[in-house]
Amino acid sequence: MDALVVSKCNKLSGKINLYGAKNAILPILAACVLTSDEVQLCGCPHLSDIDDMLAIIASIGGKVSFNRGQISVCCKAINPYTIDHALMRKIRSSVFILGPLLSRCGEAEIALPGGCEIGQRPIDLHLGGLKILGVDVEESPYKNTVRCKGRPRGGIVRLKYPSVGATENLMMAAAIGTQKTVIYGAAKEPEIVDLAMFLNTLGARVFGAGTDLIVVEGKGRLHGARYKPVPDRIVAGTYMAAVGVVGGDVYIEGAIGDHLDAALHKFRIMGLDIEEEQRGIRVRQNGRVKAVKQTVTLPYPGFATDLQPLLVAALCGAEGESVVTETLFENRFRYVYQLQRMGADVILDGCNSAIIKGKSLFGADVYAQDLRGGAALVIAALSADGQSTVSGVEYIDRGYQSLSDELNSLGANIKRLTLK
Ligand code: EPZ
Repeated sequence: MDALVVSKCNKLSGKINLYGAKNAILPILAACVLTSDEVQLCGCPHLSDIDDMLAIIASIGGKVSFNRGQISVCCKAINPYTIDHALMRKIRSSVFILGPLLSRCGEAEIALPGGCEIGQRPIDLHLGGLKILGVDVEESPYKNTVRCKGRPRGGIVRLKYPSVGATENLMMAAAIGTQKTVIYGAAKEPEIVDLAMFLNTLGARVFGAGTDLIVVEGKGRLHGARYKPVPDRIVAGTYMAAVGVVGGDVYIEGAIGDHLDAALHKFRIMGLDIEEEQRGIRVRQNGRVKAVKQTVTLPYPGFATDLQPLLVAALCGAEGESVVTETLFENRFRYVYQLQRMGADVILDGCNSAIIKGKSLFGADVYAQDLRGGAALVIAALSADGQSTVSGVEYIDRGYQSLSDELNSLGANIKRLTLK
């Protein structure tokens, strides 16, 4: 267990180079199972979720390596029945491997996925879609496993909710084969578009990604590729929120404004000066930010649920009252109790809205309980009088390549301690 000791910081200034998006790289890694050729990915951050996904691929016989941002995966010969169930239970994205395994091998037995406990996070939409594509699905609730038989054939899937993971799993399940699959009600996140671009780089035929109607025409065999995943919009939004917390002038190289429209709109209402440039985004802030009356998280292009904790952290010091409503996950406000320990005036109205009255915070010992909530505690602590200790850094390591080092490069004073 590691902890971060965060001292008060007056402002952040300097430049951050964005790396590839965790939520693009994880499905792309799963998609490497679709080809027996080598795939090389560049610009990838060292994150524990990526390490875990690579270990899962290695457990079915894939050859993997990860060195200085370059990932190589070669799934020449794989055995779906040697998959490591314990590893699958560690991360949510392990479920993404189901579609590619069925597409490539026609059978698989997986453990139900794990991941941040921000809600119940079932996989009924994934399994329901695979059944429509002709896969025989047998769930074992007691063993928490799912056994599937049969190569997905073409079909029409209507998702009742634009699930990111279900959309990605079904795109990959349909990528090899000879028939056409249509996904209505698909998710539209930039990471979905990136996965489609990657699949097409392998020789697949995926159309309509980024809209709610995606068509996949199966291709008999896919080949290898070199690919650079899309920059991480959630990491970019994290640093913008951090500038909202303590002020300063930060340039985020690689940030793409179009991927953050809803967030930029809110940050601008708060008073942040945001300049979208050719190769990145510059964020400046001087003095206290303003409150934002109402924010509701929605599937893309709405305000991203993954930035909800970071927005709340920035609003804790704002002038006035803000309300933030979470509509995707039923348990994504646990970090609020930790913000209260720092003196934040945030109360939960029922279980899906936070009411925030801005005030100054003081240092406290707090605990990360999930990835984005943990990051929110760190940036909130930057403004707190005195020192704060944020435990549970392993949650933060799942999605940030050393958040503390990067914030220190911008002028923060954060020390990482290894506790017993
Ligand atoms: C992806 O999770 C991201 N993770 C999440 O990021 C992100 O918060 C989420 O999409 C929404 O944008 C990865 O890409 C690895 P969903 P995913 O399926 O695919 C319900 C982070 O911090 N649902 O769109 O699991 C589900 O319970 C993580 O980087 C079903 O009911 O999200 C949730 O309420 C956190 N049945 C809602 O849909 C299903 O079969 C959205 O889930 C699937 C989902």
